[in-house]
Amino acid sequence: MKVIVCKDYEEMSWQALEIIKQELLKRPDSLVSFPGGDTPLGTIKKFVSAVNCGDIKIDRAKFVSLDEWVGLGKEVYGSCQYFLNESLFKPLKYSFAETFIINGAADDIEQEREAHEKFVEKYGPIAVSLLGIGLNGHIGFNEDGVDFSLNTHITPLSEKTKEVMGKYFNTEHKLTHGITLGINQIMEANVVIVIANGSHKAQIVREALQGEVTNRVPASILQNHPNCYFVLDQTAASNL
Ligand code: PGA
Repeated sequence: MKVIVCKDYEEMSWQALEIIKQELLKRPDSLVSFPGGDTPLGTIKKFVSAVNCGDIKIDRAKFVSLDEWVGLGKEVYGSCQYFLNESLFKPLKYSFAETFIINGAADDIEQEREAHEKFVEKYGPIAVSLLGIGLNGHIGFNEDGVDFSLNTHITPLSEKTKEVMGKYFNTEHKLTHGITLGINQIMEANVVIVIANGSHKAQIVREALQGEVTNRVPASILQNHPNCYFVLDQTAASNL
């Protein structure tokens, strides 16, 4: 595990972008996975600029989304699909060779799960998996108590996730489940990047990096990943 402590959010976003860029330079036809959420916005904006000015080429690369709220479609502000469309796909001047964005509003969510898993199987293993970390240590919707051997799965939201989800959208959406890339697929990724900023993340970052490896803190499994970066701003790193 490599820990990179940055002076602020801006530098954290640059550092994460640089790692993504190096991977795509080495393997231009590889599969990348980005999350939704507040944390990745800076990295994604910089990724878009780098692609649009020709610094990063994506015409042979593939993209798969990390997770989604079950029940939310692309038109719903706060869905991961909405976030990725607005922050990544619309501003990009070029297209990935193939993409799979989870549709949380699919009529048959089990079929959607299977299709996501098949896509990762076909184009994977993932070259770069960019992740945020939740206050309970979740990565994607791999919630506390997750089975580390799972691939793409549908899972009940943890109490902590339900507490904080109001920051993404109106809580009129009665959400109970998430769909997510599994820990097994994340552990098979060539490079994993966890980005975190803000003092509210300091405690869980410490537990993930320096606590025991346990499914009570899902991100702690990354201590066993051979090529994982935690890219943190100073405040998120303040308990290390
Ligand atoms: P955030 O979410 O980037 O909005 O803080 C992280 C997460 O819960 O995975």
